[in-house]
Amino acid sequence: MIDVPRRSLAAGAGLLLGAMAVQARAQQFASAATPKFRVQPLTVNPEKVKGLSAGLLRSHHGNNYAGTVKKLNAISETMATVNFAEVPAFTVSGLKREEHIAYNSTILHELYFDGIGEAPTQPSGMLAQAISRDFGSLDRWKAEFTATAKALAGGSGWVILAHSPRDKRLFIHWAADHSMAPAGAVPLLALDMYEHAYAIDYGADAAKYIDAYMQAIKWTNVERLYREAMRV
Ligand SMILES: [Fe+2]
Repeated sequence: MIDVPRRSLAAGAGLLLGAMAVQARAQQFASAATPKFRVQPLTVNPEKVKGLSAGLLRSHHGNNYAGTVKKLNAISETMATVNFAEVPAFTVSGLKREEHIAYNSTILHELYFDGIGEAPTQPSGMLAQAISRDFGSLDRWKAEFTATAKALAGGSGWVILAHSPRDKRLFIHWAADHSMAPAGAVPLLALDMYEHAYAIDYGADAAKYIDAYMQAIKWTNVERLYREAMRV
């Protein structure tokens, strides 16, 4: 039998206890609830949208949006296994940044697709009143929304119509990427200005895409979200 010095035995026991503690913490993190995000189906018939082809909408939905949801799930599953008590800060910042981008991109894409309709609609009721109150008129709203989109053309990002529960009014927000969605706002309508949203149909001509989108806005969905936002 090998004679092991008492100090070595104590050190070995310490290491074992340390390893058990790390494992216990890892198990604790591994048992944390992992969100599971599902790809939401298109609520519009892509064959019937004027100005945006079925090929474009299906590619955008099936590749870009669904790919983002898949990435978000992968990030969430990875984070469930991370021992945050031990992992370096740069690993945490990388994961959290990617999670934030994928989460916002998921929400904004779902809003984008839900806000596209098959037939022209107009805002009505309390939403129409709020647009007149906060933007002067629907035409004034359209001018600001369109100009904001064109200001993003050639780059990428989102134009977002949102209700602010804090200020109790509507705003049109400019977001140069997925992570710039306004704090504290309830988004009602989102226009995707990434090139993948229009290049199949319009090449680099973002202005034509914006014009087509403006004709396809499903205002009934915006109104539904606005009614829900007013209860926040
Ligand atoms: Fe997109």
